[in-house]
Amino acid sequence: MATALILLAAGKGTRMQSELPKVLHEIGNAPLLHHAMMSAASIAPERQVIVAGHGAEEVAAAARVYDADVDVVLQTEQLGTAHAVDQARNVLEDFDGDALVLYGDTPFIQPETLEAMRAARAKHAVVVLGFEAADPARYGRLVTQGDTLERIVEYKDASEQERAITLCNSGVIAADCKTLFKLLAEVGNDNAAGEYYLTDIPALARAAGLSAGVVRCSEAETLGINSRAELAQAEAIFQSRMRRNALDTGVALQSPDTVHFSADTVLGRDCVIEPNVVFGPGVTVETGARIRAFSHLEGCHVARGAIVGPYARLRPGTELSEDVKIGNFVELKNATLAEGAKVNHLSYIGDAKIGAASNVGAGTITCNYDGVLKHQTEIGARVFVGSNTMLVAPVKLGDDAMTASGSVITRDVPATDLALARARQENKTGLAVKLFEKLKAIKEKRQKDSI
Ligand code: UD1
Ligand code: MG
Repeated sequence: MATALILLAAGKGTRMQSELPKVLHEIGNAPLLHHAMMSAASIAPERQVIVAGHGAEEVAAAARVYDADVDVVLQTEQLGTAHAVDQARNVLEDFDGDALVLYGDTPFIQPETLEAMRAARAKHAVVVLGFEAADPARYGRLVTQGDTLERIVEYKDASEQERAITLCNSGVIAADCKTLFKLLAEVGNDNAAGEYYLTDIPALARAAGLSAGVVRCSEAETLGINSRAELAQAEAIFQSRMRRNALDTGVALQSPDTVHFSADTVLGRDCVIEPNVVFGPGVTVETGARIRAFSHLEGCHVARGAIVGPYARLRPGTELSEDVKIGNFVELKNATLAEGAKVNHLSYIGDAKIGAASNVGAGTITCNYDGVLKHQTEIGARVFVGSNTMLVAPVKLGDDAMTASGSVITRDVPATDLALARARQENKTGLAVKLFEKLKAIKEKRQKDSI
């Protein structure tokens, strides 16, 4: 059955105390909005409609980063969840198939749950996702009769008896799209909040002779984010899930609780991740690579057999081929290293290509920025870059070339050449001892004078 996703994301999120629209706050370096879209991706929706309001432009831009084909509709005034869904009417009124409503601030709905809702639609015209709440607080309550849902009552409108119900409304709802819009037209706002409640839909369906049902999920899945504290709590849940998933797919995490993941981190089987490693967005690490302690990676690819760190920083555009070695206090940015290349100590390599089996000595820096423009450094295969070489880009070093330690390389070095670019050394016979004596004499005189 074709499905159209309607994602509610118009709310302000006052309790976040933030300039940023709530759904753009991040978990695992991805906005909440993307997490909700990722949940829905499991049922491959044919259409995706985002209902935006507060910060609509930013929300729309973020949604399009995830998928350029989303529709964004505007809810200029937040008059309630039914009113929000109704903003998708123009886009979806003629859609043949189901509508699935998710909240943009509810990131953990699982694929199995959406699958179960889809299955339940064979039995019921309207399916609502409910959960047993440990503390039902102000959630809407589901009034059920056997496995049919009679109605949903909002906390504000509920009697004492209804408030005693612990089966709560998650807000997720599925129904045939045309039916949903027909029923939405009947929703009024005569209630305690003066809002158009989406929760009126099950009762309206039943009044129209249709059935409504409930699918249950765990409370953890329906966790919604309303405050910074809840966001932090959700991040912790997300991180432990990512760690668990890495372990289950054959990644060795030596100290799982100290490794920080992004939502899109991909680690191959038999990778070893040492303690205190941070994966920013856009990292893939292939089978058998090792990321040593205290390394920070983002926007990079590490091929099999490579070793990175400890204390390495891989920035966006870093591409490490097989068996590359990156050592401590090395920063790489927009750099491609071919098979077996090594940068082992205290270096900055930016906007560079390094050929196979080349060795970059300690303290080497690509001087890639002249204050205005960025320039490329190209190093061939089997090059030996002496320690503390400054490579003033743009510059090229041919295959099998060498630079002397301490060189400032400003011109290209042809293949097989040795480049020496430092002052020639002079030795003065016996001068060291004479100089020492002179200095000691100065020190003694100063001590005497100060008594
Ligand atoms: C809603 C449900 C309640 C349920 C709870 C679960 C209704 C009437 N109540 O209550 O039964 O237990 O969620 O968390 O549906 N939104 C808009 N436009 C609006 C109003 C809301 O886009 O005009 C969005 C919000 O940004 C949010 C979601 O819809 O993502 C839910 O709105 P919220 O105000 O949090 O509803 P609750 O009062 O929590
Ligand atoms: Mg809410």
